[in-house]
Amino acid sequence: MNDEQFNALVDKIQEQVFDDAKDAYGATGFERWRNPRFGGRMEDADSKGRITGSCGDTMEMFLKFADSRVTEASYVTDGCGSSNVCGSFAAEMAIGKSIEEIFDLTGQDVLARIGQFPEKEEHCAYLAIKTVQDAVNNYMIQQVQSTTEAQD
Ligand code: FES
Repeated sequence: MNDEQFNALVDKIQEQVFDDAKDAYGATGFERWRNPRFGGRMEDADSKGRITGSCGDTMEMFLKFADSRVTEASYVTDGCGSSNVCGSFAAEMAIGKSIEEIFDLTGQDVLARIGQFPEKEEHCAYLAIKTVQDAVNNYMIQQVQSTTEAQD
């Protein structure tokens, strides 16, 4: 196989991968699959959540707060493309929300935001939201601890 044939084969495979992703995630999810937003560790986060799902994949969420509302959010995952899409939307959906509003979110809200998602990977959305809620929980624990320390 010469270089030209090899490049044509690579292009064909990539096109097939993109077509499969479009079929799986629909337009909204596909766009996010190609350009995941809110990815990466946040070194100066106010709190962090980390959950390993039953599938064995781990997701981490990083949050910043102001006046008990999330102002910034980011995620990292060692999971599949689906967990990246869900982590990205869960981080986006957390921004601007109060602590109470975040505890009201479910994986179903992430799935509704994406609009179309492979049924057998819906658990990725629940993992993403659980991880956001874990980060919020850790934030609340820190707040209580710092209040208690200030009173000592
Ligand atoms: Fe494990 Fe998606 S989070 S398969």
